[in-house]
Amino acid sequence: MKLKIAIQKSGRLNEDSLNILKDCGISIDNGKDQLKASARNFPMEVFYLRNGDIPQYLRDGVVDVAIIGENVLVEKGEDLRIAEKLGFSKCRVSLAVPKSTKYKSIEDLQGKRIATSYPNTVESYLNKKGIKAELHIISGSVEIAPNIGLADAICDIVSSGSTLFKNNLKEVEKILTSEAVLAVSPKIGSEEEEVLAQLQFRIRAVLSARL
Ligand code: PRP
Ligand code: MG
Repeated sequence: MKLKIAIQKSGRLNEDSLNILKDCGISIDNGKDQLKASARNFPMEVFYLRNGDIPQYLRDGVVDVAIIGENVLVEKGEDLRIAEKLGFSKCRVSLAVPKSTKYKSIEDLQGKRIATSYPNTVESYLNKKGIKAELHIISGSVEIAPNIGLADAICDIVSSGSTLFKNNLKEVEKILTSEAVLAVSPKIGSEEEEVLAQLQFRIRAVLSARL
């Protein structure tokens, strides 16, 4: 029996995810080019998956746990349990508008076009505020949308803020803050739960040593 863990195949979480496993004393054979790798000294199998697919894999029990951004869980996996916050890949999901746009409040987005990769997150935020907007769902390079006339505003991840800056946008509403977390499948078995407990024990030691 092995604990099946999903991590991001490529992107901002990939390296830090592998690093935390390494700091936990878990060595993983090669990786990345293969979609699956085994740990040498811990009962664990690593699956390299696309971020957005991970919530469904957890739900289906294809993997037992995953290292994933909270922002992805808010968007696609609010039903999933978080076992541990991991303290890296901190970011926020925010609304932004062109610097030249006069912006006073969320009311200014009434009836406007918003480009985003996080439609559920934006929708529920706007609903709470009583705002109706037209969402344009795009999967990447969202910040370009206002410049090419596709949208009046965007909603995307902000980390350093440099993508907003480069595209002449200003952050106007912070919808949520996020960091990497360890999320758990509702279908995890009892033996796997025991391995998960060992993993969490090591993670806590690593995180407290990092402080
Ligand atoms: C991500 C995200 C933002 C940017 C935020 O994009 O979608 O655009 O990083 O980071 P920053 O505030 O430090 O600039 P990424 O570069 O991963 O590409 P993508 O949007 O095409 O997926
Ligand atoms: Mg981007």
